[in-house]
Amino acid sequence: MTDLAQLELDLTNAMHAADTTAALEEVRVAALGKSGSVTTLLKGMGALSPDERRIQGPLINGLRDRLTVALADRKAALEAAELDARLAAETVDLSLPAPPRRKGSVHPTMQAMDEIVSIFAEMGFAVAEGPDIEDDFHNFTALNFPPDHPAREMHDTFFLKPDPETGERKVLRTHTSPVQIRTMHRTNDKPGAPWIASGQEPPIRVIAPGRTFRKDSDATHTPMFHQVEGLVIDRDIHMGHLKWTLETFVARFFELDGVEARFRPHHFPFTEPSAEMDIRCDRSGGELKLNVGDSWMEILGCGMVHPNVLSAAGLDPNEWQGFAFGMGVDRLAMLKYGIPDLRPMFDADVRWLAHFGFSAVQAPSAAAGLS
Ligand code: DAH
Repeated sequence: MTDLAQLELDLTNAMHAADTTAALEEVRVAALGKSGSVTTLLKGMGALSPDERRIQGPLINGLRDRLTVALADRKAALEAAELDARLAAETVDLSLPAPPRRKGSVHPTMQAMDEIVSIFAEMGFAVAEGPDIEDDFHNFTALNFPPDHPAREMHDTFFLKPDPETGERKVLRTHTSPVQIRTMHRTNDKPGAPWIASGQEPPIRVIAPGRTFRKDSDATHTPMFHQVEGLVIDRDIHMGHLKWTLETFVARFFELDGVEARFRPHHFPFTEPSAEMDIRCDRSGGELKLNVGDSWMEILGCGMVHPNVLSAAGLDPNEWQGFAFGMGVDRLAMLKYGIPDLRPMFDADVRWLAHFGFSAVQAPSAAAGLS
C-alpha cells in the first residue's frame, strides 16, 4: 500500500520546488495526469475490498482535492511572479521618438488659402462665404453683367437644369465675386419700407475664399479652381487704398519687403475703373525671380466697385464707395512654391502631395509666419 502521507509530502515539496508554471505543470501531470500517481491510486480503488475502499476512498479523494487546490494556488502565485518579471523586463522608453509613419499633408492650394486669409486677417478683413451653386442674379446680374451679354458666355459657365416651375437656371459660380453681393445686399421689397440687410451694413472689409467652376480644361485651366475675392466698402474709399492694400498683401504673400507693381487698365463689368495688377519679374533660366528683370506677371484683377453693383446691392453709390479684387489661389500657390503644372494639383496623387504638401501642425499665422 502506498504511503499516502509520504506521497502528499513528496508532491507538496515538488510543487514548491517548481519555480515556473511549466515545471508546475509537470508536477500536476505526474500526480493527476492520466497515468499520474494519484490517478493510479484512484483507478486502483475498484480492485479494493468494500471495507478497504471505505477507508482508502476518502483518504485518496481528500489527497486529490487538497492537491488540486494547492496546485491552483501555486499556479496563480507563479503566474503573478512571471507577470511581474515580464513587466519589469519589458520597459517602454517613452522618450524615444515615434517611428515614422506616412503622414497626411496640407495641399499647397489650401496652404496658400490659409496664408492669404491670415495676411488679410491681420489687416482687419473678415472671411465671408457664399454657395457653390449660385443664381443668375448673384453671379451675373447684380455684378452688372448685361443680359445676354457675351461676358456671361466668356465665363464658360456650367448651367444647371432649369427649375421646372420657375424656369430659373442656376449656375456653378464662375467666380467668387457673387459673395460681394451676398455680403452687402440690402432689400426693401415694399415701397416705403426700410432697407433690410441680408448681408452686413457698411463699412465692410471682407475676403471670400472658395471654389469656382468653369467649362475649361487644359494645361493652365481646370474645371474647378479656387479664388479669393476681396471687398472694401466705406466712405471716401479711393484707388490709393486699393493700391496700398494689394501691394502690401502681395509683398507679404511672397515674403518680400515690397513689390514693384503696375496697375494695367482692364475691363470687368463690376468695377470702374478696372485694372489688372502685375508685378515685375524675371523668368530667364526657367526660374522665377520677383522685383527684378523686364517681365511683368499678372497677379490679380481689381477695381473700384461699379455704382450699378452698389445700387443692385441696395447701397447708395453717392454715400458709399469701395474697391474689390479677385485672384486665383491655385496659380498663386504654383508661383510661390515653384509648382510647374496645374493639373496634378487635382490628381490626388499621394506622391505629389508628399512632395509639395505642407505640415498640418504648422498652419500659417501672423505670429508663427507663413510657409
Ligand atoms: N471675378 C473676376 C474673375 O473671376 C476676378 C475679379 C476681378 C474680381 C476684378 C474682382 C475684381 O472683385 O474687382 O476673373
